[in-house]
Amino acid sequence: MKIISYSIRDDEMPALKAWKSQHPDVEVQVESENLTPETASKAQGADAAVTFQQAPYTKEVLEELQKLGVNKLSLRNVGIDNIDLPVAEKLGFQITNVPVYSPNAIAEHAAWLMGRLLRRVPEYDAKIKQRDLRWAPEIGREMRMQTVGVIGTGHIGRVLINILQGFGAKVVCYDIFQNPEIKAADLYVDSLDELYQQSDIITLHVPSVKENIHMINADSIAKMKDSVIIINVARGDLIDTDDLLKALDNGQVAAAGLDVYEKEVGIFNKDWAGQPVPDANLEDLFRRQNVIVTPHTAFYTETAVENMVQKSFDASLQLIKGETPDTLVKY
Ligand code: COI
Repeated sequence: MKIISYSIRDDEMPALKAWKSQHPDVEVQVESENLTPETASKAQGADAAVTFQQAPYTKEVLEELQKLGVNKLSLRNVGIDNIDLPVAEKLGFQITNVPVYSPNAIAEHAAWLMGRLLRRVPEYDAKIKQRDLRWAPEIGREMRMQTVGVIGTGHIGRVLINILQGFGAKVVCYDIFQNPEIKAADLYVDSLDELYQQSDIITLHVPSVKENIHMINADSIAKMKDSVIIINVARGDLIDTDDLLKALDNGQVAAAGLDVYEKEVGIFNKDWAGQPVPDANLEDLFRRQNVIVTPHTAFYTETAVENMVQKSFDASLQLIKGETPDTLVKY
């Protein structure tokens, strides 16, 4: 049995070595390169591939793999929005992902972004660099005084709700798939409009499906409270960045915490030291003291990385053995 693994980083190696030592009968081919039409040929002789969401898995890539008889693909992450799913289905691919590797990693990151923005940390950081140690005018806001609108009550949204309630915040939620516990706690509002009207902070925890793309735009922002804070640790294309920048300019949006950006592919997780990134809107966001951008690092914890490796390789092996992993993506 042989698994090829693409986009392997150094920080994944300890977990991968541990997995290999538990499965001495499985040969693991480790590649640091992404899976692309050019690198797909490396899968020659493999029974399955383990990959990471670092590049689009287009018709071309999937066809290349298929030619080699490799149609079992296990992602080490949750998002599958980079895969051409209709083509994958037509070519008979079996795909698994890791839907739950550490909801806490991402929920905590969202909470830290909120906390840092509420207490004006980026502005104080900038002032301290100038040795300006005055208090005013960056007065903070307390979490317990905020109503936080959580859009999406899956695993991540639910961990975040607990964290926020621990701080004493009022939480209101919206999801088209209602979770029984959240429903029993009476946290759901009936519509997004209602959530927009009530929330001082809005945090996104929904996937990038076509209904959600650019859900935060000029129209939805107009329905929000003035001086709302927007947090996005989900997918960049949930926000229309042009509209967000305008709302930051006119103060409708007081601050934003963004771990994802709609054009992040090819920009995040690269060293741009000494030069601007090739995206004017992203540079504009970087320059603002009421915006925190993190380069899609919400997931990036020791616990999460270990789970991502272990769970994806377990699923890959199950596919090879003809078993049905419970993380099999349903078309
Ligand atoms: C995911 O698991 O889908 C993430 O957003 C993590 C990412 C770095 C691929």
